[in-house]
Amino acid sequence: MLSATFLALCLTFAEQTISLPNHGLGPSAYTVPGAFPTSLYQSYYNDPTATSAEPQPVISDPVTDETYPYWLTDPETIPQNDTFEAHPLPPPATSDVFLETAISQIISIAENPVFGNDTCTRCQASLEVAKFLVMATPAQGPLLATRLCEHFNYTNDCGTMYGIYTLGSFITQTLAYADVGGYDGQMICSNFLSLCPVAPTSPLNLTSWFAKPKPDPLPPRKQPTGQRLKVLHLSDLHIDPRYSIGSESNCSAYLCCRVQSYNPASMDKITAPAARYGSYYCDAPYPLILAALQAVPVVTGTEEDGFNFTIYTGDLVSHDPDNELSRYAVTFHSQAKTVLYDLIGRMIKTGPVYAVQGNHDTYSQAMSSPYNIGHGLTNQYKWYVDYDHLAALWQLEKWISLETAQQARTHYAAYSVQRQDGLRIITINTDFCASSANYFNYINLASSDNSGMLRFLTDELQDAEDAGDRVWILGHVLSGWDGTEPLENPSNLCDVDRFSPHVIAAIFFGHTHEDQLTIFYTNNATTMSAETAQTAAWIVPSVTPISNLNSGFRMYEVDSGTFDILDAYTWAADVNTFPELDGQTEFGPTYALEYSTRSAYGDSITGWGPNDPLNATWWHLVTEGRALNSDAVQLFNTYQGKSSVRTPECTGDCITAKICYMRSGSSSLSFANCPAGYGTVSNGYYP
Ligand SMILES: *[C@@H]1O[C@H](CO)[C@@H](O)[C@H](O)[C@H]1NC(C)=O
Ligand SMILES: *[C@@H]1O[C@H](CO)[C@@H](O)[C@H](O)[C@H]1NC(C)=O
Ligand SMILES: *[C@@H]1O[C@H](CO)[C@@H](O)[C@H](O)[C@H]1NC(C)=O
Ligand SMILES: *[C@@H]1O[C@H](CO)[C@@H](O)[C@H](O)[C@H]1NC(C)=O
Ligand SMILES: *[C@@H]1O[C@H](CO)[C@@H](O)[C@H](O)[C@H]1NC(C)=O
Ligand SMILES: *[C@@H]1O[C@H](CO)[C@@H](O)[C@H](O)[C@H]1NC(C)=O
Ligand SMILES: *[C@@H]1O[C@H](CO)[C@@H](O)[C@H](O)[C@H]1NC(C)=O
Ligand SMILES: *[C@@H]1O[C@H](CO)[C@@H](O)[C@H](O)[C@H]1NC(C)=O
Repeated sequence: MLSATFLALCLTFAEQTISLPNHGLGPSAYTVPGAFPTSLYQSYYNDPTATSAEPQPVISDPVTDETYPYWLTDPETIPQNDTFEAHPLPPPATSDVFLETAISQIISIAENPVFGNDTCTRCQASLEVAKFLVMATPAQGPLLATRLCEHFNYTNDCGTMYGIYTLGSFITQTLAYADVGGYDGQMICSNFLSLCPVAPTSPLNLTSWFAKPKPDPLPPRKQPTGQRLKVLHLSDLHIDPRYSIGSESNCSAYLCCRVQSYNPASMDKITAPAARYGSYYCDAPYPLILAALQAVPVVTGTEEDGFNFTIYTGDLVSHDPDNELSRYAVTFHSQAKTVLYDLIGRMIKTGPVYAVQGNHDTYSQAMSSPYNIGHGLTNQYKWYVDYDHLAALWQLEKWISLETAQQARTHYAAYSVQRQDGLRIITINTDFCASSANYFNYINLASSDNSGMLRFLTDELQDAEDAGDRVWILGHVLSGWDGTEPLENPSNLCDVDRFSPHVIAAIFFGHTHEDQLTIFYTNNATTMSAETAQTAAWIVPSVTPISNLNSGFRMYEVDSGTFDILDAYTWAADVNTFPELDGQTEFGPTYALEYSTRSAYGDSITGWGPNDPLNATWWHLVTEGRALNSDAVQLFNTYQGKSSVRTPECTGDCITAKICYMRSGSSSLSFANCPAGYGTVSNGYYP
């Protein structure tokens, strides 16, 4: 607007000038000479009168007396780009300044109102700040974690939790290599800080994943022999060598029943002394472990003949906070493993024991880094990831062969055993599928198989299919239920669909300490029916009572031809009565038969003969019956806590949720379909 007005004024003025009478001016026009006025300068680099090039006068600076050079007058050589002198930059920050700035920037991001309620954006932006800090000065990583913990009040002992000796270094590596602005960062913010929504499951690319398509028709079913094998299932012993009888068992800081435990409401007096045989907020003391192992042969009727074989789905040592797991504890851990495998082997006629590594069986807990992590870090944990020690112990007990032990050493403690009888046991290390503890899972999380664990499983399943074997898959962390324990990626144990029901007879997990079950269906469970149910995963109750649970174990009866499960018997000891056993040696705990799975749930299922298996079809029918009968869900809920007096009642949404969890073999399905919050009975209450 302004310039247009200005232009208009000028034009008006010009017209007026031209129209004025021509007083006192020179000629109305003048034609200048064609030659350059050479007298203007003393000298020239070229011939200034030439018509083919610009004149290049030699010019001196009157201040400096410097004569400007030829190249500054030649259009060919005058620089196009000023690269003579860089413009100034701030000086490099010292490590300390870097750290302080990162902290203040993260606090700014946390507090700046422009982000509104978008906690996820705040979180991922903060991770970016942290990422570049730790890449520039890695030693600041643990300090940053500790300082942010203090600022945001994550715990009251941040230095112990997040220092270089505990989680600090894992957090630093993860920040340095994860895509914190993308999928990895969203899931870090979701799982560890609850500041982002759970990211969608990555699509599975199954092109070339399977060596062969699923056989159609499926090979003929294995014929039952009518002979029943006895198989013991033990899990999660969690012996606590620090358990101190008489110490506070209702404490505020995990783990209780230790010399330093206290109840904040009663600082100078113990409110609930730790019973000799165990307490609800504590891991298993020696006497409880021995009581369980003494009871097993008697109640299962195996004192004479023993079991045909035993499965152990992981976790031997106590739930120590990370700082109590320092390097000396490697020996402490090794000792616990040595003690427990030795006792199991000596006190029970187990047959071969097929054991898997649990998340508490390595130091630091659950920190299994994938072989492809790179950056020179592939073998960083040799001295404390105990694949080697576990494999050696299993071999020493003669549970697996030398070759199998060697396979375990190089496959993150996973191995496969082809038994003579047509059953193949495939074990996997589920640290690579668990959400909470293995920080390395958050590097390149969108990819489906960083560790190669699924590749191993798939190849073994293919081998089993080719050999006509049936398979039991053993792992520690479950793949489904309410979705809170496993990661979505690698998703769905896609192998289950491809190899069920003809190859995979059953799947077994531990980890939650609770008695749970999940069903896998064809085609990612788009239709859930008796026809589409393919395989069931049995999650076995623990020996440790933590938290709010009774102590238990299980035996399966298995057809020796099909390796289908015909019945499961679960025994439990009532931890609530343990204080009554203190101070005397006449009686120890009582392990009583809690239930037979077939008798507890089978009534409502018609057309199922006494020798028909408790397979996925049967379990689906159980969930259908249960949908109509909330008492049956109450029963399941009671067994989930091993009949603990502290198991909460399950009503309303809880009933829908339990049925839904049973139908969710993968966490993606629970997130998509089920009400959240009813997965565990361990809190003693539901939301
Ligand atoms: C100017 O110099 C910079 C630095 O050497 C270079 O990256 C850039 O390409 C140059 N630009 C031109 C137009 O020559
Ligand atoms: C943020 O959340 C609060 C509480 O839920 C709500 O009242 C407010 O409107 C939200 N603000 C924005 C910008 O969404
Ligand atoms: C952390 O706790 C302290 C003391 O209770 C409090 O003053 C501070 O505001 C808290 N910080 C945050 C970020 O909530
Ligand atoms: C899927 O995997 C195949 C084989 O590994 C690969 O060639 C293809 O590019 C992948 N497709 C996508 C969409 O990633
Ligand atoms: C444990 O102690 C707290 C007080 O710190 C108390 O509120 C709670 O009821 C106690 N729990 C049990 C099971 O006794
Ligand atoms: C299972 O154990 C029973 C009792 O010891 C024995 O008779 C039977 O041969 C075993 N079966 C197999 C397949 O090992
Ligand atoms: C389960 O067993 C029943 C009875 O033998 C059989 O009809 C059904 O096909 C089996 N289901 C699966 C998934 O194998
Ligand atoms: C399976 O279904 C769930 C729920 O709809 C979805 O989140 C997930 O991505 C699906 N998985 C695959 C491998 O398609």
